[in-house]
Amino acid sequence: MRTIDWVDGAVELIDQTALPGELRILRVTSVADLVAAIRSLAVRGAPALGVAGAFGVVLAAREFADDPAGLAAAVRDVEVARPTAVNLARGVRRAAARLEDGFDGVLAEACAVRDEEIAASAAMAALGADLMVDLCGGPPRVLTHCNTGGLAAVVGGTALGVVVELQRRGSLAGVIASETRPLLQGARLTAWELEQAGIEFRVAVDSAGPFLLARGEADAVILGADRICANGDVINKVGTYAHALGARRAGVPFVVVAPETTVDLDTPDGAAVEIEDRGAAEVTAYWAAVNPAFDVTPHDLVTAIVTDRRVIRLDRGEKP
Ligand code: MRU
Repeated sequence: MRTIDWVDGAVELIDQTALPGELRILRVTSVADLVAAIRSLAVRGAPALGVAGAFGVVLAAREFADDPAGLAAAVRDVEVARPTAVNLARGVRRAAARLEDGFDGVLAEACAVRDEEIAASAAMAALGADLMVDLCGGPPRVLTHCNTGGLAAVVGGTALGVVVELQRRGSLAGVIASETRPLLQGARLTAWELEQAGIEFRVAVDSAGPFLLARGEADAVILGADRICANGDVINKVGTYAHALGARRAGVPFVVVAPETTVDLDTPDGAAVEIEDRGAAEVTAYWAAVNPAFDVTPHDLVTAIVTDRRVIRLDRGEKP
């Protein structure tokens, strides 16, 4: 089942706010509803956001066919719906570049974005599984953070796609999924996907991750990215940096799996990235809160980045 697709004239997506309680499909026909779905995290995860962005331009091309100013504003609304994952703006810009070719041209481009993300997931699964066994000297016990499965892409996923591939090969020795406060992408979505795949796992509170690594309960950390900077800094769900520090301290590999569409060579380092602030309400209704949705992991803490085309060994001085 695809997380997001173009079906009979509308964007259909799995409403990730309803999981794991309910597998609900949202049928989106307007730009405003798609922007709302992106902002509410009904659709989320960097590769899925890229596809959502491209299909958003398809919706805009239909809705504002006779209104060039409205069309430009609608395309911009989709592009800036969330700031951190570079895939969203990329997907939008790629589809928007075909606006001169009319609705059919934009739709063809958006479908190409979707198909390329599907192919990238398969390529990352194979490359990443090889690397994990290599780095860990055998079937690894992994610790993962946030949600990086098919729900975050179209099918397959990034880091969780590697985990599923390891299981398929009989080369997986255990999984710990961090809860991922405050919206529980790990406890709700990763846990649901692992259960669907028949993979045994345990959920840990985020703050336990570094301690579990120190206690030798995982052989590697594997997770995704929302943006990878030219110097190798990795922007991903808040809590990633703490897991990188824990991995370094425990002496285990810290592996980032993301498609090339997440590599942003125009951004020199993590300091240049806008970190989405999702506001206090998600954390607590009772007192003031600070709620950054992503963090920056310095490149010197990353062992390797796996994309659909390359393994970049940052531990050997290679750069994206
Ligand atoms: O706020 P979210 O749920 O969109 O954050 C998603 C993440 O941080 C993922 O780890 C990242 O997008 C990689 S997904 C393959």
